[in-house]
Amino acid sequence: MLSEDPTKRTLADLGVTDAIQLAFRFTELRAQLQRDLKRAKESGEWDMLRETWIGSPDSVKSRITTNWLRTAPPGLQPAVARDLENLINEVFILSTVMRSLDQLGTAQADQVAAQFLKLQQVFDTEIEECVDEIDLGVSRTFWLGRSSGVLTHITDSWLKTASPQLKRVVGAEFNKLKTHVESKIEERRTAIEAGAEEASLAREGVDLSLPGVIRPVGSHHLIRQVLQEVEDIFFSIGFSVVEGPEIETPYYNFEALNIPEFHPVRDDMDTFYLQLPKGAPEPLLLRTHTSPMQIRTMEKRQPPVRVIVPGKVYRRDNPDATHSFIFHQVEGLAVDTDITFCDFTGTIEYFVKQFFGPGVKTRFRPSYFPFTEPSVEFDVSCIFCGGSGTAAGGGNCSKCKGAGWIELFGAGMVDPAVYGFVNYDAKKVSGFAFGMGIDRLAMLKYGIDDIQVFFQNDVRFLRQFP
Ligand code: DAH
Repeated sequence: MLSEDPTKRTLADLGVTDAIQLAFRFTELRAQLQRDLKRAKESGEWDMLRETWIGSPDSVKSRITTNWLRTAPPGLQPAVARDLENLINEVFILSTVMRSLDQLGTAQADQVAAQFLKLQQVFDTEIEECVDEIDLGVSRTFWLGRSSGVLTHITDSWLKTASPQLKRVVGAEFNKLKTHVESKIEERRTAIEAGAEEASLAREGVDLSLPGVIRPVGSHHLIRQVLQEVEDIFFSIGFSVVEGPEIETPYYNFEALNIPEFHPVRDDMDTFYLQLPKGAPEPLLLRTHTSPMQIRTMEKRQPPVRVIVPGKVYRRDNPDATHSFIFHQVEGLAVDTDITFCDFTGTIEYFVKQFFGPGVKTRFRPSYFPFTEPSVEFDVSCIFCGGSGTAAGGGNCSKCKGAGWIELFGAGMVDPAVYGFVNYDAKKVSGFAFGMGIDRLAMLKYGIDDIQVFFQNDVRFLRQFP
């Protein structure tokens, strides 16, 4: 027997708490049974085998009954009972079919038929108890398995050793049993499959009276919508889109844009620097504007250049209704041999009228950016009070504070110093550039008074812009 016989201990003692652990214990027992059967076959001591497993008061069967079945938690009891019954059947069947008819004391044709009938009865009960494919697979192997299935054992132990008088009847009974087993297994398989199908149909059945599953359809974020609107307007007048890295070097973000290291405008553009390993060749930062792409574009292309650059930008700003450490810009750059200030203002005016409607007026005021000369600030007539500066109910318009104008974005003619950084001939080319805050444009156009809502992603806000 097993070195440490588990059937002498209770299931709780063995730590068996579920059907899987239980099945494992029975598998162990079956392996032991196989070893005992082999030994009995060699020694011919079949009575002893039956005694060890099912006959005596100290057999495996009675130990399992006392130590496992009686002490099992109620939930596990049916499984123990069933596994035990199967094991006993196996002992009975295998110890029958592994013996020769001689050893079984079967010498008459009717005794042969009776042996086969007993086997068939055990098979019939067993197959009825198969509830799924797994059970069925186990039974199929046990009865039909090529190397050690019941039928193979019968061929080896009964058929091959049968006396000439019995051979014919053993052969006939064998074929009968074989056909019976095969057709029953097939029958059961079809039944199990049909049952499974029915169950899955019942599970998946369509109930037309149930309300449908509503799958919400997403939409573009308002910022994305406005970006697309801006892109479309510039597409229509011959600009194309380029995009660039959000992680930049100080050279592209500042120096090449004519903002040397200690220039005061850097104060407005404080940003986030990346932590780099010691010895990294240069610092890296989150770009503070989309303007670096002016440089990257001109480095790669010769004039004429007409591009816009949509993208995210970052600043070390404390969040409030008009500031966020992340926001969006669209940069514009047009450089050619004959671009004038008129092309510049005409382009901007065209854009503003397309975007806000033909009724708005534009104006520009002198301003300062290191990379444009002259630099301007573009204003649009207040879209809330129609440029009157007066609120509907009287008093000052709260949006433009009574000015009638709203500041839109910075722009200017490209400073010749910038051309020096990209090897353009400042004497031959000219151009203009602009950089607008998309969040600001969206807030103005859609009457939103807090930039934070763009980044909070509250669907109650987002759904208002399907
Ligand atoms: N980059 C500037 C900023 O973020 C905006 C800007 C101003 C861009 C003038 C331009 C420009 O291209 O010409 O404040």
